[in-house]
Amino acid sequence: MDKQKVIRAALLGYGTVGSGVYALESRLKDEIVKKTGAALEIKKILVRSLGKKREGADPSLFTDRWEDILNDPEIGIVIELMGGIEPARTYVTEALKAGKNVVTANKDLLAEHGGELLDLAVEHGCDLLFEAAVAGAVPIVRALKQSLAGAEITEVSGIVNGTTNYILTKMSEVGMDYGEALELAMKKGYAEADPTADVEGYDAGRKIAIMASIAFNSRVTFSQVYTEGITKITARDIRYARDFGYVIKLLGIAKKEEDGIEVRVHPVLIPEDHPLASVRSSFNAVFIRGDACDEAMFMGRGAGKMPTASAVMGDVLDVMGNMVHSCCGRVGCTCYKNLPVKKEEDAVSRYFLRVQVSDRPGALANIAGVLGNNNVSIAQVYQKRSENGVAELVIITDRVKERDFNDSLTVVKGISVMKEISSVIRVY
Ligand code: NAP
Ligand code: HSE
Repeated sequence: MDKQKVIRAALLGYGTVGSGVYALESRLKDEIVKKTGAALEIKKILVRSLGKKREGADPSLFTDRWEDILNDPEIGIVIELMGGIEPARTYVTEALKAGKNVVTANKDLLAEHGGELLDLAVEHGCDLLFEAAVAGAVPIVRALKQSLAGAEITEVSGIVNGTTNYILTKMSEVGMDYGEALELAMKKGYAEADPTADVEGYDAGRKIAIMASIAFNSRVTFSQVYTEGITKITARDIRYARDFGYVIKLLGIAKKEEDGIEVRVHPVLIPEDHPLASVRSSFNAVFIRGDACDEAMFMGRGAGKMPTASAVMGDVLDVMGNMVHSCCGRVGCTCYKNLPVKKEEDAVSRYFLRVQVSDRPGALANIAGVLGNNNVSIAQVYQKRSENGVAELVIITDRVKERDFNDSLTVVKGISVMKEISSVIRVY
């Protein structure tokens, strides 16, 4: 009988995700052999601080020297779960140059340096897989790269940050205030150590950059993504949105238009009957529109130890299967086009505008006049009964170029009846 083939891997990082991957590997030992034809051994684990108390793994596996892994010819797969750009970028580069396959969950790295790393993987005949980097356990990277390769994708829109979806759900469903909901999201382990990346939309921006690159076969980096977070959304906006038949979500939106790619992250009022509107709590979901495939939606756990570990393990098993059949590097970089990324002010949106005005005759006509003069057409208006001489106006516009809308706001701010622009939120 043939001796069982053993594939050896190293973990870079033993934090939330790294320890989850190790636990999953221990739990799935026999299954892994049946699924791939080889056994998996985690031979080394790189950490920053060797002195930290670790649960679950044999202490002799830990090292704080990258060279122990890079120079070990038996290690065929490097599983990068440290996060951040450096030293992850250097380690992944060196691993690929040494002919080692790489699996990573690092969206920061891929959203800025994905192109160079994927090219390197192709050059060295290695796999570089990163399913867990976008929406955790939701299988969207492989779906876009392979399962939907037969369709021309025109839109990828998603709720791809669990923390902000959790906060907005709590604010909307139980009237929790923003600070309290954020604190709870942090306690539950959804948020990054510094939640700025979550609440300001940077985390979702990295994920939409990665998805847009794959969906449109043209490289988009995080620095090209317009981002706006949820910190200014109030309970009052959420209530008005509901009255108009919408829910507020933080969306990553990428669209392929005739004149280029539109790619952005910002809060949006979504009609209650859109599939993304029903995605609650910390769940993620990605909505796809394409020619042959029509519409599709993928939903699941976008963060957390075991959901993310499951996506990482899926990639590891894929690499193992490729190693067994000597066919690594089959699906490399798919960005073979060079489409322009449009400026945000050239995008077209509908808007929800909430303002406080002096309750004087002609106030509404005054504002409507300014909007009209700037090509902004009004679709719906609501005026709340005035308190202390100040009335609240809520306006929903028709589709308008962002540049025209911003120009109209500049003028509106200066008119005598205007007391305060309270909220400006785009409508999906
Ligand atoms: P984490 O809990 O902070 O763990 C990071 C691990 O990497 C720690 O074990 C740390 O070592 C090690 N590390 C960091 N810098 C290092 C360095 N310079 N040299 C050696 N080791 C280093 O992070 P995580 O939440 O598991 O996230 C890991 C990756 O998965 C990130 O790219 C993240 O964006 C991505 N991701 C996370 C989630 C999630 O829900 N957490 C979801 C999707 C994707 P010490 O233990 O010694 O500090
Ligand atoms: N902080 C991220 C989130 C973790 O809330 O979705 C997963 O990338």
